[in-house]
Amino acid sequence: MQVQAVQGDIAQFQADAIIVNLFEGVTSPGGGTGAVDKALGGLVSQEIQANPKAFKGKLGETLILPTYGKIPARYVIIVGLGKSDEMKAFQLRRASAAAIRACQKLKIKTAGTLLHGASIGGYDVSAAARLLTEGALMGNYRFTKRKGAKTGEENGESASTAKDEFETLAIVEHGGDKLAAIKENITLARVIAESTNLARDWVNDSPNYVTPTFLKEQAEQIPGLTCKVLDFAQIKQLGMGAFSLVAQGSEQPPYLIHLTYKPDGKAKKKIALVGKGITFDSGGLSLKPAASMELMKMDMAGAAAVIATMKAIAELKNLPLEVHGFVPTCENMPSGCSSKPGDVVTAMNGKTIEVNNTDAEGRLILCDAITYAQKEVNPDEMLDLATLTGACVVALGKAAAGIMGTNDELIDQVRKAGDSAGEKLWPLPLYDEYKPFLKSDVADIINSGAKGEAGSSAGGMFLKEFVDKNRAWAHLDIAGPAWITADVPEVPKGGSGFGVRTLLYYLYNLA
Ligand code: BES
Ligand code: MN
Ligand code: ZN
Repeated sequence: MQVQAVQGDIAQFQADAIIVNLFEGVTSPGGGTGAVDKALGGLVSQEIQANPKAFKGKLGETLILPTYGKIPARYVIIVGLGKSDEMKAFQLRRASAAAIRACQKLKIKTAGTLLHGASIGGYDVSAAARLLTEGALMGNYRFTKRKGAKTGEENGESASTAKDEFETLAIVEHGGDKLAAIKENITLARVIAESTNLARDWVNDSPNYVTPTFLKEQAEQIPGLTCKVLDFAQIKQLGMGAFSLVAQGSEQPPYLIHLTYKPDGKAKKKIALVGKGITFDSGGLSLKPAASMELMKMDMAGAAAVIATMKAIAELKNLPLEVHGFVPTCENMPSGCSSKPGDVVTAMNGKTIEVNNTDAEGRLILCDAITYAQKEVNPDEMLDLATLTGACVVALGKAAAGIMGTNDELIDQVRKAGDSAGEKLWPLPLYDEYKPFLKSDVADIINSGAKGEAGSSAGGMFLKEFVDKNRAWAHLDIAGPAWITADVPEVPKGGSGFGVRTLLYYLYNLA
């Protein structure tokens, strides 16, 4: 899907549909919507006044009206912006995504749109164009890759294949002077949204396709980054006993992927991102019940977010920070050579770990990746993203990720970035009271000692054992929001790409 910026009068714009908007409770439209209403001889206002129940302007609500030749576009799509007081960024993304969904339903290919929020909403055109584009591209996302040659409908399903994809959205502006700023923001938003959609693709795709080798190949293909990959022999040779233990149960070879972005000039800061890349989590010998295993292809969502973020940074080119992406990736499988509850291993930092539960595998691969990241690049800040604990889903649901770490300022800034990115992060504690969770009778620490208490914090406490003193570190437990079951217009069901936008907003705020 293309997004363009053009100068002109939206009412006379040549496209299959034009998209206008209304705030909640407004029945006589002003601004751009008012102008379109006039060109249509009052069609819009008459319709919403005649049947106020059909359209209230609630956020994401849409009403489609045929124009019967009064203007060049066949349809006018009215999208609700929600409440006008204190309009938030997510409202503009959602409205735009909802409008694109309406276009998909109509099976049309082109539309012209007002810049939602820019006139009556009071947003500056740059921000409005960015939010509109992010919402449109994220809302247009569908995962159809594995549908086969036939269309979804022929298969008796509602999803459709590329042949009826929506093609072009044009932001139609009266004043030509704003076009440059709009275009610049379309480009930025396109990179943000497309990298989110790329992460979604990887999370949605099946675990027989998305293997550690697949992730490694995706990382290697990104232009503008250097990619160093450690194979199993090197992982073992570096003393990554914890990562190796998880990897050894699978036929699929594991990798530690290290992507690097360096700016042209001097870097203001050095950041390390670490993403959990379990491409399938069966639980290992501590096998998951079937119902909990079903979705465990999504256990590489942290890895997807890190790789997709690195790709976005490489495309945008202008970030004055040195950014490293580390992804430990393997499967967690039961087999004749998999780890056994009771195994004790030595991690790369020399700590011994008793593995009492092979299903707490995320912390085992991350702890060695964290040690390696700190040794390799000595980052000013380190953030890890992981679908680490079911407990985080219990605590926060799908609405928010848990965030914890060693530096309150870092956590605050990441949460702020999440707010502007439309992703919620809620703080969880790493209290000293949780230290007993790590106590092992035979080794330095145990991987699953919490037994039903504060499970997400327990995961964080474990990882903290591997973080150098004074290192600014934040751990994002994305187990809930990485996979969405009740969709909203900008986040369709399935892999959400959670984390990509927060990381990008965070890094660009830092710069
Ligand atoms: N990948 C899971 C966590 C998960 C659960 C992610 C549900 C997304 C949705 C993780 O590896 C895991 O199995 N965690 C265990 C930890 C426990 C054994 C300490 C869990 O949450 O049960
Ligand atoms: Mn697990
Ligand atoms: Zn897992």
